[in-house]
Amino acid sequence: MQRLTTIAETRATVARHRADGARIGFVPTMGFLHDGHLSLVRHAADLADVVLVSIFVNPAQFGPGEDLAAYPRDLAGDEAKLAGLGAAAPAYTFVPTVAEMYPRERVTTVRVAHLTYRLCGAARPGHFDGVATVVTKLFNIVAPDVAVFGRKDFQQLRVVQRMVEDLDQPVEVVGGPTVREPDGLAMSSRNTYLTGADRDAARTLSRALRTAVEVARDARITGRSADPGMIQHAARVTLTADPRVRVDYVEVLDADTLAPPDQPGGEGTETGHGEPDNRQRLLVAVAANVGPARLIDNVVIGDGEDEDRLLHATDSA
Ligand code: PAF
Repeated sequence: MQRLTTIAETRATVARHRADGARIGFVPTMGFLHDGHLSLVRHAADLADVVLVSIFVNPAQFGPGEDLAAYPRDLAGDEAKLAGLGAAAPAYTFVPTVAEMYPRERVTTVRVAHLTYRLCGAARPGHFDGVATVVTKLFNIVAPDVAVFGRKDFQQLRVVQRMVEDLDQPVEVVGGPTVREPDGLAMSSRNTYLTGADRDAARTLSRALRTAVEVARDARITGRSADPGMIQHAARVTLTADPRVRVDYVEVLDADTLAPPDQPGGEGTETGHGEPDNRQRLLVAVAANVGPARLIDNVVIGDGEDEDRLLHATDSA
């Protein structure tokens, strides 16, 4: 595994592989890698001949007062974990400095509308502008055929997928499943902020999602469709039961448009009749502050595999 640090050497390296006919896979990260990242790298290795992992804490996606300075970093540890993947280890890491990525004041921003209006887009103004802009830069530098993003950041995945469609960026964007701790907590670099009672309280997020899936399944068993209001209420009750969990949002949205499920037309659903579409896949997304950590998690109801994975992971929680 070789570390690349400049845009020029990364472009030249990828161009050489492409000239040999290799398919390039890419996993963008901000480092402090955990098993969730490693599963994305394995996924990329299945889809491509040569895999590159970027490690770059992108200042443009942090708002004032957020944890940019405190964001955990461990480059040596990250590269050791990647090397430990054996046959699935990436051929390259790309580890640019901030000056390499942003050599002067940036006056160009990529902004994805609609999909960024709710959830973390509402809670973290400007965050997705920073993400869309750096991901576009990374795609321009690495020129991957396929890029793998975690479904844990579901809104980010949808934003990047829509950006790629709208801007004709020639890359396939694939989502990899959320990897969870044994008690159901979704893996995140920010889990490192959690200690003691906070760590215990953090599993309330996945429990709330479990409640949502159970309500939806109960409805289906009795031949009814899953009512978004009931699902949201059930998840919120579970999440608010623990006073250590300071809820930011509990939302149930159309999983494709990220708009309210009963909102026809516009960027909402496509029923065209002003009625909820019962075949919709519903994203149940939660965000909460637990101790010093801001945590997010989600499940897609109507996606059997995602529901099963969540239920299985929270069985013993
Ligand atoms: O998900 C992340 O780690 C970041 O948002 C990303 C995609 C690497 C862009 O900085």
